[in-house]
Amino acid sequence: MTEPTALDTKPFLYVVVCASGVAPDVGTLITAAQKADWNVGVIATPQALGFIDTRAIEAQTGYPIRSAWRTPGQPRPLPPADAIAVAPATFNTINKWAAGISDTLALGILCEAYGLGIPTVALPYVNSAQAAHPAYRQSLDRLRDMGVLIGSYDPHRPKAGGGAERFRWEEALELLASATGGVDRNR
Ligand SMILES: Cc1cc2nc3c(=O)[nH]c(=O)nc-3n(C[C@H](O)[C@H](O)[C@H](O)COP(=O)(O)O)c2cc1C
Repeated sequence: MTEPTALDTKPFLYVVVCASGVAPDVGTLITAAQKADWNVGVIATPQALGFIDTRAIEAQTGYPIRSAWRTPGQPRPLPPADAIAVAPATFNTINKWAAGISDTLALGILCEAYGLGIPTVALPYVNSAQAAHPAYRQSLDRLRDMGVLIGSYDPHRPKAGGGAERFRWEEALELLASATGGVDRNR
């Protein structure tokens, strides 16, 4: 089965969305990425589907949201990724990704991205109680060792309403630019 090719020469960004409090605002990142000349496709974890406006996102990107594996023989709905931004990244997905667990399509894509050499950034959005778990620190260390660039969000206090106003979606693009020096537009 051949992969779909992008309709133009713009690089293709996968935005992986996890089930966290800021997920409904992922359109902010999509808009910023499109302004920065990326084509964008969204991969949502199954839990994240309940947090986002799927119709609005599909209208914005022009591609179906992927969340489950396709069946063998079905065409691939998205072109291959030139880069991946995991935003927001949950405690759950960060720990499973670092451990090599691949039980959602999002995790499957992330686990393979390392071996494929796809530049990847993650913007965690967690509270300080989650961040205090020893496994979380180890997971971030492992992801950094794998070359994943991690966002700078300072975890919010648990059960205090979160810190959406401090979550910088555009940091994903800034980190990607620093990682790639700008993606090759002539691929
Ligand atoms: C309203 C709500 C808000 C949540 N916010 C967060 C969050 O900000 N960060 C986080 O790590 N988990 C958060 N969770 C918990 C995750 O949704 C849960 O761990 C889920 O299993 C994550 O699945 P995923 O990593 O596959 O997206 C939240 C759950 C709910 C119901």
